[in-house]
Amino acid sequence: MSQKARIAVIGAGLMGHGIAQAFAQAGHPVMLTDADVDVLHSAPGCIERNLIEMGLSPESALHNISVQADLTSAVERADLIVEAISERLELKQRLFANFVTMAPAHAILASNTSVIPISEIAIGLSRADRGRVLGTHWWNPPHLIPLVESCP
Ligand SMILES: NC(=O)c1ccc[n+]([C@@H]2O[C@H](COP(=O)([O-])OP(=O)(O)OC[C@H]3O[C@@H](n4cnc5c(N)ncnc54)[C@H](O)[C@@H]3O)[C@@H](O)[C@H]2O)c1
Repeated sequence: MSQKARIAVIGAGLMGHGIAQAFAQAGHPVMLTDADVDVLHSAPGCIERNLIEMGLSPESALHNISVQADLTSAVERADLIVEAISERLELKQRLFANFVTMAPAHAILASNTSVIPISEIAIGLSRADRGRVLGTHWWNPPHLIPLVESCP
């Protein structure tokens, strides 16, 4: 992945905002969205507090994060999408079907699921698109623990 790969993080809750922060701290442009506007709009403030607690300047990472009101604008230019929405199979399957139609064909489609088999999330996608799906299970809190299990 190039240094400036564009990352879309879908779900700005407990895990999503920390995942967005980790990529932003590494210098990647991050597009962050959530179905709940209150959660979405509170995410930059949560990230700012995290950075201050870590003794870092909030601007060191916040300038890399853009809050996106809808899924299309979050994923349409992404190189890597990290799904961190609620742990419900049918929601994740619907979202991954949307990724295929909205995101660039080269984009890697990752899920932060804890327990759902990644192959079940990919059911319904074409064989080629299933090959783009990856499990990436981050430790909590993602901005403090640099450990991600990955599963093809
Ligand atoms: N909490 C943990 O310690 C932990 C650790 C590793 C992995 N995970 C996994 O990470 C994922 C997220 O967990 P969390 O703890 O951050 O949950 P959370 O409830 O804090 O956040 C989930 C967010 O997803 C949003 N959402 C739901 N459906 C959506 C949709 N269709 N589009 C956009 N946003 C949507 C919700 O509004 C919510 O803000 C889950 O799959 C969970 O199993 C959690």
